[in-house]
Parts: sequence; C-alpha cells; structure tokens
Amino acid sequence: MASESTPPSIPLPLAPPLSIPVLGLGVFQSTKTHSSVLSALSSGYRHLDTAQIYYNESATGAAVTEFLAKTPSVSRSDIFICSKLWEVDLTLPGMPPDFESIAHPPPNGSGAWKITVAKLGSTSYTKEGAVDGFNRSLEAMGPGIDYIDLYLLHNPRPGPTARLQAWLGLQEIVKAGKAKAIGVSNWSKRHIEELIANGEVDITPAVNQIEFHPWCQHKALVEYCQEKGIVVVAYSPLTQGTRLKDPVILDIAAKYGKTAAQVVLRWCLQRGVVIIPKSDKEERIKENSELWGWELAGEDMDRITALDEGISGKSGEWDPDAWE
Ligand SMILES: NC(=O)c1ccc[n+]([C@@H]2O[C@H](COP(=O)([O-])OP(=O)(O)OC[C@H]3O[C@@H](n4cnc5c(N)ncnc54)[C@H](OP(=O)(O)O)[C@@H]3O)[C@@H](O)[C@H]2O)c1
Repeated sequence: MASESTPPSIPLPLAPPLSIPVLGLGVFQSTKTHSSVLSALSSGYRHLDTAQIYYNESATGAAVTEFLAKTPSVSRSDIFICSKLWEVDLTLPGMPPDFESIAHPPPNGSGAWKITVAKLGSTSYTKEGAVDGFNRSLEAMGPGIDYIDLYLLHNPRPGPTARLQAWLGLQEIVKAGKAKAIGVSNWSKRHIEELIANGEVDITPAVNQIEFHPWCQHKALVEYCQEKGIVVVAYSPLTQGTRLKDPVILDIAAKYGKTAAQVVLRWCLQRGVVIIPKSDKEERIKENSELWGWELAGEDMDRITALDEGISGKSGEWDPDAWE
C-alpha cells in the first residue's frame, strides 16, 4: 500500500504500459468543477472522471492545466483523465446548452438526479461520430491537454451495430495516439462478449465503468470483467450519499474510527475496483482520499458484502442488462 498522500495505481492489463490510479474524483453534477478538481489534485488525487454529458470537460481540463503550471513536481503523465462519448452530438442545433437544462434534482432534495436529453434521429455512435466526438472532448479540455488517458462509450443504449461502429472509431483514436486507452461504461457481459467476438475488434475494453457499492455489487459482471483483465471502475461508490447512515456501515466506521464514506470506499478498494467518488466540498474531497495505511478485516468485509441488494440496490437509473 502506498504512503498516505499517494494513492496507488494498478496496471490496465489490456492497455500496457498504462496504469490507472485507484482513486479518482468524479465530477458529475459538480457545481464548482474547477475548484473541486484543484482541491482534489492538491489532496493527492491523480485521476479525474468527466464526460461530455457533464458539461464540464473544459473546467476539468483548465483546472488540470492550471495545477500543472503551478506544480512543477507533477507532470501531465502523472495525471489520468477519463472522459466519455455521449450518444448524441451535444453541439448539434436544438441540443441543451448546459447541464442545468438536462439535470433535474430529486423531489425530496436527496438521491439520484434525473437526466433528460431529447433524442435526435442521429447518433454519435458511428465510426466517424466517435472520432469527431472524441476530438470535441479533447478540444474542450483546452490547449494544455493534448491527449486523454481513457475514453469510454458512456452507455450501450444505441444498440449493437452502433456500439460496434463507435468502438471501431475509438480504436482509431488509440492508434493515432490521442487516447492511451479506451473502455466502456454501463455494459453487461453480453455487450462486451458480442463486441470482442467481432473480427474487426482488436482492442478489448480496458475498463467497464459501472455503478458499484455495497448495495449494488454486480457480482457476476465484476467477476467476468476481472477474469478478462477488464478493470472495473465503480461509479456512485457513495450511493450518491443516500446510504451512508446504514447501521452496519456506521457500526464498522465507529470500530475503525473512520467515517461511513471512508468505510464504503475502502470496502470497494478491497474488492479490487477503482473508485471515483464525487464531492464539491474540500473537506470531503480530503476525507474521501484518506484510505491508505489501514484496512478492513475479513469479517467486516463480509458484513458489508452481505448488504448486497442486487440491481434493486442501485442508486442511479441504469441497469446494464436492461439494454439490447
Ligand atoms: N458512467 C456513468 O454512467 C456514471 C454514472 C454516475 C456517476 N458516474 C461517475 O461517478 C462519479 C461518482 O458518482 P456520483 O457522483 O453519482 O455519486 P457518489 O460519488 O456516490 O456520491 C456523491 C454524493 O455524495 C456526497 N458526498 C461525497 N463525499 C461525501 C462524504 N465523505 N460524506 C457524505 N457525503 C459525501 C456528495 O455531496 P457533496 O458534493 O456535497 O460533497 C454527493 O452528493 C460521478 O461524479 C461520475 O464521474 C458515472
């Protein structure tokens, strides 16, 4: 385990020689991306998770560039940036101009937000659309960022033909050196198997980013990915803040003198997944990074693992198996 200030990385076996830091900052629904990214980088985070649909690739890229300019001891290659292709080109006429236009907070003030994006006839999940979409993401990050470490297809929703074509576009981006690795998000085992069985596919997804936390463990999918060398990245690892008062978690937190969030994040790490918790609060960003130098004992891991509710325990909207 690394020192307290240096979160470790693990190799992406399907994208050598690249490693992915096991702790990243997620910026979905961030209302102050620039300062949160700076806080995270100052707290030792070296991985950032953005997406076209978050409308904050530019704030993320600008914050990384600013941090690098004032921190000569850290270079671009020390920082791992992930972004994701949305299934429609958000720059097309008629598309929502900003995140506020598509995101609707939950009625009772806590829990998952609802994201609505009008469907257009055209999808960016074509070979050319994926290349264009990637180029838009890279450009949005500003002149200080000239490659993206990891680029994902955000979801499998557009269907098998579109998924394959978009993947063939992403393969070209890797071969052109503009992305170091490519992967998928919200994909089921079936989606991955179908993709890699295709003769035109010569790069296997390096990661599958899925919802993952004690109440939604996707056990079979995680096992499948880990057997294949596909790194699982856990999104909403803190259940969007909704389950942190669980009595089992609070009991274990008291035993270790840690917070509920730290216990949940530490459990995720010990399950061998990468975590990307989101926070806009400087003290929580730091709290969520204090995960080294201690570990949960097997019996406590088991108590948390027993909290699994399967897909009904998800805090977000998406079930990978629900898509064609
Ligand atoms: N691929 C996908 O489809 C997908 C879907 C969802 C998310 N993601 C990625 O995963 C990242 C994380 O997921 P998420 O944002 O959905 O949820 P999350 O990280 O599970 O939870 C974030 C929520 O928890 C609160 N929080 C953070 N740290 C806390 C702490 N120590 N104690 C108590 N509350 C805390 C945050 O509030 P404050 O900000 O006020 O601290 C925020 O409301 C996203 O930002 C995004 O990058 C990807």
